[in-house]
Amino acid sequence: MNVSATTVVPYFDLKAEYASLRDEVLAALDRVCRNASFILGEEVEAFEKQFAALCETKHCVALNSGTSALHLGLLALGVQHGDEVITTTNTFLATAEAISYCGARPVFVDIDPATANLDPKLIERAITRATKAIVPVHLYGRVADMDPILEIASRHHLGVLEDACQAHGARYRGRRAGSLGHAAAFSFYPTKNLGAYGEGGALTTNDDRIAQFARAARTHGQTGRYEHEFVGYNYRMEGFQGAVLQVKLKHFAEASARREELARAYRRLLAGAHLNLPYDDPRDECAYHLFVVYVERRDEVRSQLADRGIETAVHYPRPIHLQPAYADCGVPQGTLPHSERACNRVISLPFYPGLHAEQVEYIANTLREIVGVN
Ligand SMILES: Cc1ncc(COP(=O)(O)O)c(C=O)c1O
Repeated sequence: MNVSATTVVPYFDLKAEYASLRDEVLAALDRVCRNASFILGEEVEAFEKQFAALCETKHCVALNSGTSALHLGLLALGVQHGDEVITTTNTFLATAEAISYCGARPVFVDIDPATANLDPKLIERAITRATKAIVPVHLYGRVADMDPILEIASRHHLGVLEDACQAHGARYRGRRAGSLGHAAAFSFYPTKNLGAYGEGGALTTNDDRIAQFARAARTHGQTGRYEHEFVGYNYRMEGFQGAVLQVKLKHFAEASARREELARAYRRLLAGAHLNLPYDDPRDECAYHLFVVYVERRDEVRSQLADRGIETAVHYPRPIHLQPAYADCGVPQGTLPHSERACNRVISLPFYPGLHAEQVEYIANTLREIVGVN
């Protein structure tokens, strides 16, 4: 492949992925239609078993989004009106929204700038009598430092819900993301490492009681046909998504290995450039959902990359405590400096299994030229 300044390197390429899976996907969708199992059903059940095996958990409850998984996970931990839940501000809004859905208040703690994840050293001072749970987010596929988080939670009798929406298949000290807390939320949004062809999510847990609650809560609190134990939700996964996700799972190990290979190539090619890369603990396995770099004059760098045909994105341009939606959270600008600085400097580079080695080289060399080298 010949990559030049006139070639556009897309930030993401779902169409190419479909081209490679078309026959398998269409056969799976046809199976759903022939069986008319459009909501939950055998395809979703089969996917639940396979995804629980991947996460090394006893249960997987398939849902219609990662946001629903966060919501049900918090409810299962007993989070309710007036409670506080500790989380990070450097995440997608849904992490905080799910806390708000329970009538609870998100309490934002700053990140460790090396990993962009919740800094465990800052958690304890944020705990009050109202604190009920902690939601660590495994941002960009890099698992948060769970051992100290679990230790603090256990000492204070708090629930831990992993926001693993970006961390399918990641490992922390040998254990899978999704198996570390009391429960974990996954998203199968189409651009995720394991992406559906529409909305999708799941709650994983080793706790029978949490799984039982989530299974009833996703379908109007039903424990038997038209037996409604409590007021629940319509958070069911569609049969089409269960079928597509099974196809995607067959290729997941290969796609994950490719992500790792691409991340290694980026790291090698960007060594010595005037930028910062997130820290990967050698004991862990990052799922590499995104490949991010931190640079000064971020918007200028992005626009120069765009001029040379390289599409980029920003995850996320504004921490949650500075979003209008959370203007009343009482955390003024400057209070969470590492998160604010990360949001001002972060760039997501093109990153997906179909990316070619030549494209990575072109992107890395162009970025080196723009930011300079030591
Ligand atoms: C960290 C994080 N949390 C929560 C979500 C919400 O997932 P969904 O879009 O499936 O509701 C996402 C996905 O966008 C995410 O990246």
